[in-house]
Amino acid sequence: MSLEEKILSLKKLKEEARLGGGEKRIASQHEKGKYTARERIEKLLDPGSFEELDMFVEHQSTNFGIDKSHYPGDGVVVGYGTIDGRLVYIFSHDFTVFGGSLSRTFANKVLKVMDLAAKVGAPVIGINDSGGARIQEGVDSLAGYGDIFLKNVLYSGVIPQISAITGPCAGGAVYSPAITDFVFMVRNTSYMFVTGPKVVKTVTNEDVSTEDLGGCLVHNTKSGVSHFSCNNEDELIERIKKLLSYIPQNNMELPPRIPNNDPINRQCFNLNSIVPDTPNKPYDVKEIIREIVDEGDFFEVQELFATNIVVGFARFNGNSVGIIANQPKHLAGVLDINASTKAARFVRFCDSFNIPIVTLEDVPGFLPGTKQEHGGIIRHGAKLLFAYAEATVPKITIIMRKAYGGAYDVMSSKHLRGDINYAWPSAEIAVMGPKGAVEIIFRKELLHSDNVEEELMKYEKEYRDKFANPYVAAKKGYIDDIIEPQNTRYKIIMALEMLKNKKEKLPYKKHGNIPL
Ligand code: HXC
Repeated sequence: MSLEEKILSLKKLKEEARLGGGEKRIASQHEKGKYTARERIEKLLDPGSFEELDMFVEHQSTNFGIDKSHYPGDGVVVGYGTIDGRLVYIFSHDFTVFGGSLSRTFANKVLKVMDLAAKVGAPVIGINDSGGARIQEGVDSLAGYGDIFLKNVLYSGVIPQISAITGPCAGGAVYSPAITDFVFMVRNTSYMFVTGPKVVKTVTNEDVSTEDLGGCLVHNTKSGVSHFSCNNEDELIERIKKLLSYIPQNNMELPPRIPNNDPINRQCFNLNSIVPDTPNKPYDVKEIIREIVDEGDFFEVQELFATNIVVGFARFNGNSVGIIANQPKHLAGVLDINASTKAARFVRFCDSFNIPIVTLEDVPGFLPGTKQEHGGIIRHGAKLLFAYAEATVPKITIIMRKAYGGAYDVMSSKHLRGDINYAWPSAEIAVMGPKGAVEIIFRKELLHSDNVEEELMKYEKEYRDKFANPYVAAKKGYIDDIIEPQNTRYKIIMALEMLKNKKEKLPYKKHGNIPL
């Protein structure tokens, strides 16, 4: 055969490989409202940038007649390419080949790109659409998963790892996405669970649908497993691209700077009216975020989970930051178990990848009650404290209204190495709110009073005058300045600029023991 003929033959083989499980299964994938593995890669990466690896890899199994079926690539498409010109590694499960189930060789392909990504220092994106362990391969498949889990863990905090769930993801297979930094799901077509509805019925006698057990909404609103709920795969792809724009390639680099025309000294006059004068009146902290960040652009993470705290990415003067903000619109912005773990994980992501943290504080404290105490609010709240204290990236805090009790300490206070902590004149920094406080410290007086209501008001006023302001903390240097709300954007930008060469280390240790 001449070289020319060999080249033609190669082209033909590649064409065949690109068809995966064949036209019929591709059509069935489309009927379900899903893209194929290759279409997903094409849509996600810059046009023409994808370089495929291991296209001819095939499984080695002989069990249960599987040796009679071979598909080049064996159910996963892997390689590298660029998104907005930046290198990424990718693996994309091909459901048209053995239901995207994972064989030993499949796992080896995934491991190959993960190792390359770690060596070079670039994100890995995994697109999951799989029936799980390839049943015919038995323990070889489980070994493959185990090897991937290990690499997920070893590369955690080294390179960003992103999981898109675009179909089934069941059994132990869910643990690879769970270890990665961000999990994206699609409504109606993706689901994740450790055991499916049939096993649930057998073991617990519960009747539950796939969607109600582990669908997109469940994991975005209830379990907190997923960070992004997308209406369809196109939206998922756009949101992965946007997320990447905020984060660096690896833990040794800074996030990319994306300049814009928003003036650094733009006065934010609306801030003077968003926070109500009445301390217990709710407002939407996202309005504040949009007012201060570049061009009002805020990319929220876990928008539907623990809505009493808001986390996400934005830019100041073109530089990426992670924002953590109590949300008075939901549960008065109180810290509960879910809010604590949500924010703690986000703080740790930002710290791993050199993204400064801006904290907007208006918090009445930790949520009281048996449900929270028995659920372990002590342990979970401690995670947030631990994460903030451990973080060495620049940390800027703005106390807008309440900073009560332990929550004052936890929300990136000076005491946990907050670098620059400002308060608005409306700030109240105290052990607790006035009513609760006077009922404790003036208990005896109130007990013997002829006019409890009047006395209460008098003591509350006294307490308010003394503590419900930022000046006591400012006098002691616990906050660095009291600023006018309208200057918040400028003050944050100046502080970020001043802190850009910040270097802070932790004492030598193997690793800390965060209260899990
Ligand atoms: C081998 C599999 C497979 C698997 C699907 N297929 N899952 N082959 N191993 N795990 C094959 C099917 O035989 C079928 O082949 C093709 O993929 C498409 O599957 P369908 O069932 O026709 O598709 P659909 O109706 O869409 O259902 C998808 C599904 C279902 C819900 C994923 O296939 C299913 O329940 N599969 C088994 C899931 C499972 O229990 N996996 C093990 C989980 S435990 P043909 O040739 O007919 O087209 C696990 C442990 C991991 O993964 C542990 C890690 C530590």
